[in-house]
Amino acid sequence: MCGIVGCLGREDAQSVIVNGLKALEYRGYDSAGVAIHSGQKINRVRAEGKLINLQEKLTEQSLPGQLGIGHTRWATHGAPSEKNAHPHTVGGVSLVHNGIIENYAELRENLIAQGAQLNSDTDSELIAHLIHHEISKNKLDFIEALKVVTPRLRGAYALLVMSEDRPGEMLATTNGPPLVVGFSEDSFILASDLLAIVPYTKNIAYVTEYETVHFQENKYQFYDKNFTSFIKEPQQINWTDDLVEKAGYSHFMLKEIFEQPRSMAKSLEPHINVENQSIEIKSLEPHSEFLQNLEQVYIVACGTSYYSGLVGEYLFEKISKVSCKVDIASEFRYREPKLNPNSLVILISQSGETADTLAALRLAKKSGVKTMSICNVEHSSLDREADMQLYMNAGVEIGVASTKAFICSLSLLNLVSGFLAKKKGVLNIVDENHLVASLMATPSHMESVLTCDKFFAEAAEHLKKYKGFLYMGRGVNFPIALEGALKLKELAYMHAEGYPAGEMKHGPLALIDEEMAVVMIAPKDDLYEKTISNLETAKARGGQIISVGAVNDNKLKELSLNFLPLPEVDWNINPFLSVIPVQLLSFHVANALGHDVDQPRNLAKSVTVE
Ligand code: G6P
Repeated sequence: MCGIVGCLGREDAQSVIVNGLKALEYRGYDSAGVAIHSGQKINRVRAEGKLINLQEKLTEQSLPGQLGIGHTRWATHGAPSEKNAHPHTVGGVSLVHNGIIENYAELRENLIAQGAQLNSDTDSELIAHLIHHEISKNKLDFIEALKVVTPRLRGAYALLVMSEDRPGEMLATTNGPPLVVGFSEDSFILASDLLAIVPYTKNIAYVTEYETVHFQENKYQFYDKNFTSFIKEPQQINWTDDLVEKAGYSHFMLKEIFEQPRSMAKSLEPHINVENQSIEIKSLEPHSEFLQNLEQVYIVACGTSYYSGLVGEYLFEKISKVSCKVDIASEFRYREPKLNPNSLVILISQSGETADTLAALRLAKKSGVKTMSICNVEHSSLDREADMQLYMNAGVEIGVASTKAFICSLSLLNLVSGFLAKKKGVLNIVDENHLVASLMATPSHMESVLTCDKFFAEAAEHLKKYKGFLYMGRGVNFPIALEGALKLKELAYMHAEGYPAGEMKHGPLALIDEEMAVVMIAPKDDLYEKTISNLETAKARGGQIISVGAVNDNKLKELSLNFLPLPEVDWNINPFLSVIPVQLLSFHVANALGHDVDQPRNLAKSVTVE
């Protein structure tokens, strides 16, 4: 949610922190701040709004020192304002926090009763008060203070803490939200995400649940949940930092939409044997017997990942002949689900850090059910905790609205459903070869669909004037209708609904008039005739039809105000293609409206709070 960065042991601590915040800005961008220990005192600069506002302030007033912390905020408690921006400083204690403290009201009340002077509306400032209280009143050591304060916090936290009377020290702790340490020469860089660290070092260690690290000058010590010290060896990662450039595109999102064919190819690559046209998911082989006897699949995710799960439902039921149920993680975790013991829970998450999805994984594991993660971020919490892991291989996704990770989830869901079908003996070799060949041909079909970018770039000025958009599809294209509507809401802040086309007569038809655009996804599949009837019904009520369908479908073209052609492909390949026009529509309409497409208001890429 928020992004935190820390640096210890470098002359250029301020610039390392600000560069790190820039890389993490996708996590939160309503205010930012940095605090640096000069050796004598902690100096702090904070600014409301985007990071650029903080950078401007820092050009006038740079902060010298080798120890510092920084934060880019996505507001939970308290409005986005300078007073609520981190770092929060109480007495000599300064900290940055990513997460949310659920017993905020109770802690706040107690602190006020004790006479604490609160300077912000945040939950995070309360933690600084508690630590300060333990150090100043109860005379506890720095790390002892953290040890008694953290059990009093309910909710989620990753914290970096400095103290004015300890110029060479920093504490880092987390009870779940991501935290990574980079080790370079005699210095340490800490951050919520590797993106802030890789420009400086590839030598890293993850701080995982309930771990704490105490940095003192050029030494560090890891502590476990009980604050017993232990040794954690850094690992070398093979990332390159040029992954986070826009490469000539105006926006990360546009770049990521255009990267989709390549991302899809990369997601398939490790799991198919090109020569035999077969599916070979090596990491799942040890689970063959379990998969062969599997009776039920559950898919649990949030946002765009949830919609890829909805496509997965059709894939598992039609290809693997296994019952599949898809749940929104924030519902699943509180629904007391009765899980079939002979089932698999698949968690889909680009970031691998979404709090609700992670809680769902833990719930499934507690119920004794096997779990599989489909993540883009290797070593993320979901990836580490699941029993089986698959990677999207989408490459770094920066745009807050997920695009290429969606495509890669779809490609893995196709592969897993095919693999499961093989294990269950319901996919013969001819069908397997066909499935692999059609997946392998998809990236080039996607390239051809990307040419509709030009249409949306030109049509956006006109499209932005509609009062709303109704997206409709059937079968695997119903989740694409949902995804189209979500994207338009996220980016253009316009009213949009996604509906199964057959359900239109039960309500949404009342919305349709000349000011309403109807995006109809109507490929030539089993349900084509029915979809066309739905389209005629919408058109008869004045709906302005934008259709997405097979390239030679003249009937659809005639019925539509605008028609976006797609190559004719199998039913399970259609979503890879039909999602591209709806992504581009949202991108261009939002851009024409002058919105910040990569960082839409009120949203964050990685939602590590409930
Ligand atoms: C946020 C992002 C969405 C994303 C969702 C789930 O809401 O803005 O783009 O789909 O989180 O994220 P995940 O990382 O779990 O896929």
